[in-house]
Amino acid sequence: HGTSRVNEKGHLEIGGVDTVELAKTYGTPLYIYDVALIRARARAFKGAFRRHGVQAQVAYASKAFSSVAMVQLAAEEQLSLDVVSGGELYTALAGGFPPERIHFHGNNKSWDELAMALEHGVGCIVADNFYELELIEQLVGPSGRAVPVLLRVTPGVEAHTHDYILTGQEDSKFGFDLNNGQADEAFRRVMASAAFQLLGVHCHIGSQIFETTGFVLAARKVFAKLAEWHKTCGFVPAVVNLGGGFGIRYTDEDDPIPVSAYVDCIVDEVKTQAEVHQLPMPEIWIEPGRSLVGDAGTTIYTIGSRKEVPNVRTYIAVDGGMSDNIRPALYGAKYEAVLANRVLGDRMEVVSIAGKCCESGDMLIWDIALPEAKPGDYLAVFCTGAYGYSMANNYNRLPRPAVVFVENGDAQLVVKRETYEDLIQYDLPLKAKVNQ
Ligand code: LLP
Repeated sequence: HGTSRVNEKGHLEIGGVDTVELAKTYGTPLYIYDVALIRARARAFKGAFRRHGVQAQVAYASKAFSSVAMVQLAAEEQLSLDVVSGGELYTALAGGFPPERIHFHGNNKSWDELAMALEHGVGCIVADNFYELELIEQLVGPSGRAVPVLLRVTPGVEAHTHDYILTGQEDSKFGFDLNNGQADEAFRRVMASAAFQLLGVHCHIGSQIFETTGFVLAARKVFAKLAEWHKTCGFVPAVVNLGGGFGIRYTDEDDPIPVSAYVDCIVDEVKTQAEVHQLPMPEIWIEPGRSLVGDAGTTIYTIGSRKEVPNVRTYIAVDGGMSDNIRPALYGAKYEAVLANRVLGDRMEVVSIAGKCCESGDMLIWDIALPEAKPGDYLAVFCTGAYGYSMANNYNRLPRPAVVFVENGDAQLVVKRETYEDLIQYDLPLKAKVNQ
């Protein structure tokens, strides 16, 4: 997929660059991003809205992968940016991301985080709860400038992959419930206070979603409420944000629909709802994370030890694991892989790919057919671009891998590999013993 292909040496090439050369230059584990594919996805989302002639913002959910270069790339592609913490906000600002296109999320934003967001003039705060409304009011003070906010509502539509659950009351830590008066109370508070400029509402129904029904149902629920607020208070929403969650193909078990199909369906439903409820067409905002960067990322590992459990399985271990990709251990997520240095090699065998962390659960892939692998071969695991580096950790004191962007035959290091010195940089030694 993307710009991946097998070159004349039989090596995996991405963005016109030999991944084996990259592994030799930058070491492993190594995350490689196909920049052209990220641009293509961004343009597919934006182009789909443009074809409908509607106002929209496509905000990259930077929790999927945040780094200075990544937010710069998002800015180049005219995306907006969803950040969920002071750290993601700081990264965005350090990358020169236009603050007016930053949307600040989170269910427990601190005073300091909100102060930082207001100081830099972020485009909007997605207000999640009553405590946050209080904090914003205090920060703004009696004479301050009104803060643009969206109210995050919980519509009682929960989508998981192919299933969606419709509940009167969703049990979620996020947002104001639409169905029990919470959202109405939040609306009244925000309307009554000069601290807020209410742009509209936000909802997010889940992640790795493969069909459109959940988005349609969420849009209907949200519009039913907006219509009420319009009738009772004359409120006219400028923005409806339907969140992210568009699914991608990790393995053949996944069957996503094209990006444009989600957009078509969302635009159609919002248009219909706006007409039905006699509201002007709002701007539509969405927040894709995984679908912008997920399949653009590939991790290269070096293969090391092998263990045969006779008549049961063969374990092949790589030089990373749950420290750079926690998704298999955390969610049972599945991945596909090839040998980067012998993609089309023969003598296939079925093996299981183990990480190097001291946990039996640190398995990256169970039962995959690969050409017979030797120590020193390179394994390329696909679709690690979302929630890979961003959820990486230093378990067992493994240094976090480097990240490289490739495009048009050119490679550039965008996140350096951590060193052992980095690992202990915040450690302080025991106090010296005082001689008695
Ligand atoms: N907007 C909101 C409010 C979200 O909570 C999320 C994801 C997104 C947008 C982006 O969702 P995406 O388009 O990437 O599916 N760590 C998990 C995923 C957690 C997603 C959390 N929220 C994983 O590795 O699958």
